[in-house]
Amino acid sequence: MVAVRPRPKPWHPPAASSLQTSSSFLYKSKFLPAKISYSLNENKETQQSSAGKIKRLVLTQEGRTKLNTYPDREFYAYPKFVTHVDDGFISTLTNLYRERLSPGSEILDLMSSWVSHLPKEVSYKRVVGHGLNAQELARNPRLDYFFVKDLNQDQKLEFESASFDAVICTVSVQYLQQPEKVFAEVFRVLRPGGVFIVSFSNRMFYEKAIGAWREGTGYSRAQLVVQYFQSVEGFTQPEIVRKLPPSGGAQEDKSALKWLMGLLGLLSGSDPFYAVIAYKNFKPVYE
Ligand SMILES: C[S@@+](CC[C@H](N)C(=O)[O-])C[C@H]1O[C@@H](n2cnc3c(N)ncnc32)[C@H](O)[C@@H]1O
Repeated sequence: MVAVRPRPKPWHPPAASSLQTSSSFLYKSKFLPAKISYSLNENKETQQSSAGKIKRLVLTQEGRTKLNTYPDREFYAYPKFVTHVDDGFISTLTNLYRERLSPGSEILDLMSSWVSHLPKEVSYKRVVGHGLNAQELARNPRLDYFFVKDLNQDQKLEFESASFDAVICTVSVQYLQQPEKVFAEVFRVLRPGGVFIVSFSNRMFYEKAIGAWREGTGYSRAQLVVQYFQSVEGFTQPEIVRKLPPSGGAQEDKSALKWLMGLLGLLSGSDPFYAVIAYKNFKPVYE
């Protein structure tokens, strides 16, 4: 017998009328029903607008390939209750969110997991999480709702256009094989003036990162994300925020010893921080 929560929590997307049949479902966080509930945007005829217009493709076919070609859902089938970056990275990111995300806003945390880097003291109207592992997402204390969807299979986000004030994507952009389409969808679901914050470091599941990312440097990866933004018409000129560990200086230390120590968690505060940020149409000015 399958437990179905008839009304997970008030959720009223304008076009939500019929049962969801596609691969992504919206769960109320902290509960893990085996089957769900509400459609977010099922009725295609009522869809108001399409994704942001893609001006050009950034990646070559080769640049999109992964060493591990099994479906991503298999790789994330078991929950990984680990932290993917160090405390220094997380505190820089949380401060950035404090600066850029307004209290009371509606946020989509794309490619999320069991941890949130949003500032604990700030209240938001709604935080929706997305990822590939429902058990991880169900444990994330900040999420009001979550859904599971493989963005390399299907880039459509089942939300009305202009549903969110902010979209965030933390240490995960390297796994996207169709980033142009995902960024175009993010553009669509953002409200005008809404912000997309993409942050990353130099860590990754190597076999699951795309070719264009794997052999890059911090600089080239930031440029790649800039190009993802620029491939979609209507994003503002992307800003790059960079914070490198004091010891590393401008040059990232790639010595085998340091790499190994980092892997073993013996170095603290050593994850370089990068964020690329752009707004839909314009950057709001606050008094
Ligand atoms: C390194 S974890 C980062 C998780 C989280 N953002 C954080 O800061 O801890 C990478 C995340 O990307 C998500 N991910 C990887 N491949 C994906 C795909 N094809 N579609 C959707 N999400 C994916 C997984 O759910 C995973 O949680």
